Amino acid sequence: MIFYLSKKPRKTFLRFTHLTTFVILCLTILSTSLFVKAEENPQPCTVTNETTNKYYDLSPLKKTEGNDWIVYGYGTGWTFYINVCHGVLYRDDKDSESNFEDIGVYGINPELYNRTLEKSHNIGKLSNNPLIRGDKLVMEFSNGKLCGLTNYKSASVVSFICDKTVEGQGQPIFISSYQDCAFFFEWRTPAACPTDKKDASKGGWGVFFTIFVIALIVYFVGGIIYNRMVHNATGMYQIPNWEFWSNAFDFLKDMILIILAQCPVFKPRRNGGRNYRNLPRDEENILIEEEFEEH
Ligand SMILES: *[C@@H]1O[C@H](CO)[C@@H](O)[C@H](O)[C@H]1NC(C)=O
Repeated sequence: MIFYLSKKPRKTFLRFTHLTTFVILCLTILSTSLFVKAEENPQPCTVTNETTNKYYDLSPLKKTEGNDWIVYGYGTGWTFYINVCHGVLYRDDKDSESNFEDIGVYGINPELYNRTLEKSHNIGKLSNNPLIRGDKLVMEFSNGKLCGLTNYKSASVVSFICDKTVEGQGQPIFISSYQDCAFFFEWRTPAACPTDKKDASKGGWGVFFTIFVIALIVYFVGGIIYNRMVHNATGMYQIPNWEFWSNAFDFLKDMILIILAQCPVFKPRRNGGRNYRNLPRDEENILIEEEFEEH
């Protein structure tokens, strides 16, 4: 069985040169891979559990207007203003020490401050990074004001618990504090429930295919317009690099036929071959006679 790799002579114009095609394809692949990579970079306020590939996004807890999350410290006299992935919205004109945009947890305790005459109420800088600690999702707000007369800086920690039964995004609660320097909160919220990360990577591939398809459309439409206008091409010859694509198609077709030929089911019928059944009657007889004579 013989297959010919087609080398049909074709009209040759200088259409889009192969170099142009090559450069366009390279630029497409480069730009899309950069785009996909940017997509995959970690977004602020999210974290992925690398072992389970579960993805957490705390950005629904971010407040950009109105009030912060306000928490009362029960009998301790504290009032806390908490924001997630955004500086607190609370403002106090008398507090000239604090840069509110950088504060994640702001804690006011009138009794304590009357006694110590401290001015800053910053008990933790804003954070954009949820952390995975074992089976807990937490956020640390460290580097607050100096704690009393020590060299230690105040800090707060919020532990998030996935809970879809709470109202809205839930509400943080005060759990404990240590020496009015370290503060611990707990927050039952649906925002702490894991989601599958697939969405993010799917977005990346979606962008890849969108750009690829647009590039193909631009290539063919642009090429056809170019060939029509510049070369007055007609029919199939309008298609940019017609010869190249046609050869590529023929090659692919031949390869598929060769592969299919290995498979008995798809064996092409050998019409016109030296098959007894296809021969004219007398010729068939002659061959059969020849065969008899041999024995
Ligand atoms: C992260 O994955 C580990 C390993 O499967 C698991 O034990 C842990 O509970 C997970 N943590 C969170 C917060 O999902």
